[in-house]
Amino acid sequence: MKGEARNPNDPAESPTAPHPILTKYYQSEKERRPFVSALFDDAAEHYDWVCALGSFGSGQRYRRVVLLRSGLCAGMKLLDVATGTGLVARSAARILREPGAVIGLDPSGGMLREARLALPIPLVQGTVEELPFANDHFDFLSMGYALRHMADLGVAFRECLRVLKPGGRVLILEITLPSSAIGQRVFRVYFEKVLPRIARISTGSAKAELLMKYYWDTMAECVPPDVILGVLKSSGFIDVERRVRGGLLSEYVGLKPA
Ligand SMILES: C[S@@+](CC[C@H](N)C(=O)[O-])C[C@H]1O[C@@H](n2cnc3c(N)ncnc32)[C@H](O)[C@@H]1O
Repeated sequence: MKGEARNPNDPAESPTAPHPILTKYYQSEKERRPFVSALFDDAAEHYDWVCALGSFGSGQRYRRVVLLRSGLCAGMKLLDVATGTGLVARSAARILREPGAVIGLDPSGGMLREARLALPIPLVQGTVEELPFANDHFDFLSMGYALRHMADLGVAFRECLRVLKPGGRVLILEITLPSSAIGQRVFRVYFEKVLPRIARISTGSAKAELLMKYYWDTMAECVPPDVILGVLKSSGFIDVERRVRGGLLSEYVGLKPA
């Protein structure tokens, strides 16, 4: 769409932010990007630990299981968008077992530095909005717990579609608020109050605490699953569906038309 006028009546071109401007942290979209970059850069060394805390240590096993269940298999080439410290990419590399079969992409230099320590795969600094890859290049594209950091879901999903081969598959992992009021209350206490506090105490880092506070606020303000499914469809994906695990873990999958 670069350089072309937007058509606000076309659902494929109407911007969909994953959450409103969070004025507790920044005052505009222009300020959001540097805030998010600094947040991940500054907390990168603690990311794996706080993630393990948040998932009670089950996050890595879950990532591997969901990749397998979503059809990742030997011979495929996977792009892990928003790879961060490489948690999804590590599971994918274990499944594909071929040098170069997994590429990780992330804008945060700090997160990529941690990924490099853990994983000998090609890592590229960049954003989902402008993927530095040719059209029709990957069999599988994963994005773990990152859609809340995109400026516009439509722009992000259309870029994902572009770099996938026809018939290629997208898998987006997210945490979603439970539907019941009691579930939401428990979830809120844990993610808003308990987890940031434990992150602070166990790492001694105010940055790790801020990361977890922001994590909660973006989750609480995130657009509902139906909107995410709708934008995936209007971006051109087919066979789009959302699977839910434990009432909290959302897996959005879709295919690029063959
Ligand atoms: C919560 S971490 C997720 C890391 C990893 N995927 C996982 O499963 O744990 C979110 C990542 O999204 C990245 N990110 C933020 N904005 C992005 C963008 N516009 N394009 C791609 N990645 C982005 C951040 O730098 C951060 O590493």
